[in-house]
Amino acid sequence: MLSRFEPAGPLRGALRPPSDKSISHRAALIAAMAEGESAVEGFLDSADTHSTLAAIEALGARVEGADGVAAEIRIAGVGMRGPASAPVDVGNAGTLLRLLPGWLAGQPGGIWELDGDESIRRRPVDRIAEPLRRMGASISCREGRLPPLRVEGAPLTGITYELPVASAQVKSCLLLAGLLAAGETRVLEPQPSRDHSERMLAAAGAEVRRVDGAVAISASDRLEAGRIAIPADFSSAAFFLVGALLIPGSDVTLTGVGLNPTRTGLLTVLERMGAEIEATVEGDRGGEPAGTIRSRARVSQLQGTEVRGVEVPLAIDELPLVALAACFAEGTTTIAEAAELRGKESDRIATVSTALTALGGRVEATEDGMAIEGTGGLRGGVVDSHGDHRIAMLAAVAGLASRQGADVAGMDAAAVSYPTFEADLDSLIR
Ligand code: S3P
Repeated sequence: MLSRFEPAGPLRGALRPPSDKSISHRAALIAAMAEGESAVEGFLDSADTHSTLAAIEALGARVEGADGVAAEIRIAGVGMRGPASAPVDVGNAGTLLRLLPGWLAGQPGGIWELDGDESIRRRPVDRIAEPLRRMGASISCREGRLPPLRVEGAPLTGITYELPVASAQVKSCLLLAGLLAAGETRVLEPQPSRDHSERMLAAAGAEVRRVDGAVAISASDRLEAGRIAIPADFSSAAFFLVGALLIPGSDVTLTGVGLNPTRTGLLTVLERMGAEIEATVEGDRGGEPAGTIRSRARVSQLQGTEVRGVEVPLAIDELPLVALAACFAEGTTTIAEAAELRGKESDRIATVSTALTALGGRVEATEDGMAIEGTGGLRGGVVDSHGDHRIAMLAAVAGLASRQGADVAGMDAAAVSYPTFEADLDSLIR
């Protein structure tokens, strides 16, 4: 079935995007590891985060209020050393697939098999298996690198690990393993990646600190999560802020959005391209800076830019939107050193360049990124989401901003992170 996104009038109005997916996964996992009952305010109601709730229930945690209506859910944890042996279905959730083994690996006597959907089965897990084995873990996976992933709990010892590529998922996995490992575990990143785990673990009483440029964690017997509040997801807000930038006459305000600087690289890139976006931190939500973003249609022509290095992990999930904005710019935009995009819910170097090309963009996929020749706009056409939520939402926004509109196959994928995306988008169209 195709979903049609006609060229639209301006996007105008205000909304709070749904809660942060990354932070919701972490809240559920850390509450499961904690003692007693925790409350999570604003847990994301989406397919991916429900996979995490189902996983922690399979491990013995009790979850109440997750019917999509309650403003908060309550999770009775099993404690740091309490997870029951069980098969775990991670669905489409890469974050769950990468983080959970960190907790399980250090539980002698336990055995778990993690598996998920077709897309999960293509997502590499050697990046966590290899350092966990160095800590003493017993892990096997298909063809040495793919799910299903089998974890047999074993005593762990802390290590110092230098990540070959910046990855918050791998870093977080090793920090969770470090909680159960003898001594200290240190993780060094080539560039900073999102630091939600560090913030939430510290708030729950773990000994997390920065030492010589590394994140260090020591073994801990207990965590207390208490109450965790979750801001709106910058990555979901990003679709509207880019839509507003590209559609003449737009003026959109996004409220309650997480503005952690390890997530907002898109703003820096768009500003360099000539956008004027106001992001105002108004306070703290669950240990994360949060506030309002106002995005208006561009008044001057956007200019092409180059994105590489330190900016890549800070904008990793928004690089598809950088490519979309680049189609509307003047000159060439290069995204490089971003081979990580190939290991997301789809191979996003391939799926983004195919989608934007189908809409009339001039996009060339490279080994580690894309080169986009801006032509000032997009014609429109038919796009397949390839089951990837961010490609579906990218195509929808591109359709509204295009001259002829877009037909999107597989729009239902949006439910992985944003089940009410289409209704929210509709509410902004004037
Ligand atoms: C995530 C980290 C990023 C990101 C993913 C969620 C997280 O992946 O792409 O959508 O929640 O830690 P990597 O850290 O593997 O790059």
